[in-house]
Amino acid sequence: VDSSVPDSADAGLAETGSETRTVSSELIAKEVARRRTFGIISHPDAGKTTLTEKLLLFSGAIQLAGTVKGRKSGRHATSDWMEIEKQRGISVASSVMQFEYRDHVVNLLDTPGHQDFSEDTYRVLTAVDSALMVIDAAKGVEEQTIKLLNVCRMRNTPIVTFMNKLDRETRDPLELLDEVESVLKIECAPVTWPIGMGKNFRGVYHLLRDEIMLFAPGSEKADQTFEIVKGIDNPKLVEMFPLEIEQLKMEVELVHGASHPFDLDAFLAGTRTPVFFGSAINNFGVREILNALLDWAQPPRERDATVRAVQPTETPFSGFVFKIQANMDPAHRDRIAFLRVCSGRFERGMKVKHLRLNREIKVSSVVTFMASSREQVEEAYAGDIIGLPNHGNMQIGDSFSEGELLQFTGIPYFAPEFFRSVRLRNPLKIKQLQKGLQQLGEEGAIQVFKPINSSDMVLGGVGVLQFEVVASRLMNEYGVDAVFEGTSISTARWISCDDKKKLAEFEKSSAGHNLAHDAAGNLAYLATSGVNLRLTQERWPDIVFHETREHA
Ligand code: G4P
Repeated sequence: VDSSVPDSADAGLAETGSETRTVSSELIAKEVARRRTFGIISHPDAGKTTLTEKLLLFSGAIQLAGTVKGRKSGRHATSDWMEIEKQRGISVASSVMQFEYRDHVVNLLDTPGHQDFSEDTYRVLTAVDSALMVIDAAKGVEEQTIKLLNVCRMRNTPIVTFMNKLDRETRDPLELLDEVESVLKIECAPVTWPIGMGKNFRGVYHLLRDEIMLFAPGSEKADQTFEIVKGIDNPKLVEMFPLEIEQLKMEVELVHGASHPFDLDAFLAGTRTPVFFGSAINNFGVREILNALLDWAQPPRERDATVRAVQPTETPFSGFVFKIQANMDPAHRDRIAFLRVCSGRFERGMKVKHLRLNREIKVSSVVTFMASSREQVEEAYAGDIIGLPNHGNMQIGDSFSEGELLQFTGIPYFAPEFFRSVRLRNPLKIKQLQKGLQQLGEEGAIQVFKPINSSDMVLGGVGVLQFEVVASRLMNEYGVDAVFEGTSISTARWISCDDKKKLAEFEKSSAGHNLAHDAAGNLAYLATSGVNLRLTQERWPDIVFHETREHA
């Protein structure tokens, strides 16, 4: 770190003059090739936390399972983020874990599966290269999984599927595949197939390797291995479990005939998912999915910027902010901006351009996210996530680059599903309220709408927990005691129209009463019901109603 440049109090970022660095492109190519960045998508209780622990266990990142935050039982010693997070015992905002396995650097981005989850959950998925979908095999496809998979589909993210909890009575495996295909509209390519379930769970048959991995209740050890029996026709199997093996042979024949074979290209295109069966809590089948992610999922891919696509192996550094999290100390309004590195090599102390503010900054204080602690990062490559502390000068969608100016695209805002109007207990605090909402809106904690026809403000979120977070932050960071109240709004769509005259006509019509501007000044239609939205869409075929909008 250049000591002649003082660290500014603002995040250890300091403006500096420019200077050139030399970075070996071979080194970058090598580092990029060994990186995998993925997130887990699942409905609450499917086993994401359990699975995360087991994945970290393999890497030696943690010694014992049970140390990952977010459990209902209240283990969140490592979670020092927000007060509300501690109160609720759930992980409000997603975090990042980095670990090494088989000479790969794995970045696992946590996506909260709680039903009150927020827009963070969605945006985290814009920063991953692949996703692991965990399904409770007793329950099948659930609501949150559907939503999250839809977000993955926007970028054709490759998906590996894990059918969990085979040590319990589950639904019929064929029926489960059928449900994934029909509900989630993704083809299933079973890679392992379960032998029995519940008390009679014997293990899984690996369809590609023609071998059986025998189930044994797992332990909390990383080096645990399961006995392997080669060949489905191995006479040993008939001795071991004569009934189940007959059933397995029948099913495998069926599966070979009726389901899709594994296909790497279809997987990478996000149209076909390899499916594994197992039991996270028993550590059974977990190594197989980690290997699948390392072997089949791609290293960081190119990313679109407004001017051109950026290759991860380019030597100049670039990246974008996909998430902002309030830091542990609300009195100082510290934030951490989560930046996904898109190209080049990040080095602590380097100078980068903050595009939106058109400012060169020296990045001297950065955090990385090792499994259970935050550490200073010295270097990072495409696929890695680094945390930039700041005092509110960074926003979701902000791009940072070295040299050429690159604005990354594809960081979306999602149409809110829940709405509240804001009332102040102390009307004198209106200025603070406006400032707070403006900043929280910019940060992406909540969406703020100003209806054209009224002076009220309407807040929108994709989960109701967002309102609690905002209320608590308004109080702690802005000294505003606000009450949120229900509204008659049930859904929102951003509006666009190529025909200016038609748009003006629309604004003047009775439907125009439902229009509002969001924090970035975009026009949105706030519908009172699904029917209202549909009727309006039918009446105004020239107006486009968008479910998402990109960061401005
Ligand atoms: P989540 O993060 O997706 O919400 O799920 P989590 O891992 O917390 O798991 C939800 C529940 O399912 C937990 O039980 C967990 O122990 C259980 N579970 C996870 N994997 C398996 C599995 O392979 N087999 C079985 N039988 N259960 C599994 P809980 O009773 O709700 O919590 P806890 O008291 O065990 O922590």
